Amino acid sequence: MGAGRGTWGTRLGFYLAAIGSAFGLGNIWRFPYIVSENGGGAFVLLYVFLVFILGMPLLVGELILGRTTRSGVMRAIDIVLEDHKNSPNQSRVSKMKWLGIGSVVLCLIVLAYYAVISGWVLHYLTQLSMALIVNVSFEADQSLKLLLENGWLQVLLTSVHLLVVIVIVAKDVEEGIEKAVGYMMPLFVILLIGLAIKSLSLESAPNALRFFLYPDFSSLTLESLGQAVGHVFFTLSIGFGMMVTFGSYLSDRAYIPIAGFRVATMDSFISIFAGVLIFPLVMVGTAPVSGPEMLFRSVPKLFQTISNGYLFGVGFFVCLYLAALGASIGLLETIVSNARESLGFRRVRAVWVSGGACFILALLPALSTSVFQEIHIGGQGFLEFLDGLLINWGLPVAALITSQVVLYLVSDAQKKQAFELNSEEHHSSEKIYGHWIFALRWLVSPVILLALVLQVFAIFKR
Ligand code: PHE
Repeated sequence: MGAGRGTWGTRLGFYLAAIGSAFGLGNIWRFPYIVSENGGGAFVLLYVFLVFILGMPLLVGELILGRTTRSGVMRAIDIVLEDHKNSPNQSRVSKMKWLGIGSVVLCLIVLAYYAVISGWVLHYLTQLSMALIVNVSFEADQSLKLLLENGWLQVLLTSVHLLVVIVIVAKDVEEGIEKAVGYMMPLFVILLIGLAIKSLSLESAPNALRFFLYPDFSSLTLESLGQAVGHVFFTLSIGFGMMVTFGSYLSDRAYIPIAGFRVATMDSFISIFAGVLIFPLVMVGTAPVSGPEMLFRSVPKLFQTISNGYLFGVGFFVCLYLAALGASIGLLETIVSNARESLGFRRVRAVWVSGGACFILALLPALSTSVFQEIHIGGQGFLEFLDGLLINWGLPVAALITSQVVLYLVSDAQKKQAFELNSEEHHSSEKIYGHWIFALRWLVSPVILLALVLQVFAIFKR
């Protein structure tokens, strides 16, 4: 969406762009690997449950905050705080200001390591394209080794990705691209289903499905709740202020609860398909291999074995790259629109400064499998550590504060307006509104707090 504050031309435009940004590496790369780290089916069930009780209410909350203030998260918080200037607990409330800044910083750091993984996708895309077009031989294990051992190659790929994102956002054409990503999604889903059917014909499929879908609650750990909560927020892009910016472009007529429901369900469906595709490929006996390279270890091997594999491979990685691009654009756009609104930066300057900062921040994760491979924190490589820190700790805290802002700083009248409670036909909306407020008040904070406490216990137990 361009300079000035317009609204989405059509409802479809909003969906395509919102889904284009929510759908990304979180669904295809991250979801399967954290499911495998948390023992499978029980975690999947927990995740789906949390999408409905935490994800959707907060998604709706962020959209409402954006639409009522017509601003990105930093200014939105200033505006709602202004309305509470004279309240008795003003000094406590004013601390909420930090949420806006924190969310934008989260965007910046997440974009940095997201760009590294997007670079991995580019690597496979070029390798498979070369195999398809100029018949260069492709060997999945070899490709992974090349990537992991060669940190500077990762730095190069990361910079290429960041440059593409920077140019798109600087030229102010991101809405078009995000929409294009949204349009491409059905194609990706068809491709995923086709590949998943292939993968289900493998001998390992029964074990894989049992692992992925059969809930064995004893395999959950103290950290599982935190990981599930964090992933729900990550995959739905909650806690970054991104949906606040998106909501700020929604027209006054858009019915926000349905928008939240659709984005959340479509996003979850795609993650489940990704799991069905990947698990049969990674099973060794009854348990899968895991780790952040899981996707890259497994799916390219499938392309080596099926007929027209390279063609499917290129299709898969083009779609995955576009998904990563849509999400990256959403992240940079959020940073830039906040920097412009709240710090008065010009667009192009904001884009280059934040893009440059991301590049510097990305160096460490990009070199984490080579130059810095000795760095291990709590038994994890740097990339995995950073991912866990941001997603399992940072995001839940940001989401917790967001829920309080929506509950206590956005007025009831404004909230009700989003549920169209001012119109005639409001019986069913009134019920939905009641459920939403209930979830925001009695489910979101307690579950997030419980997740954080369990994670603290887990640290002490180690
Ligand atoms: N939701 C995106 C994904 O699943 C990641 C993302 C987070 C994108 C925050 C934008 C903002 O990959």
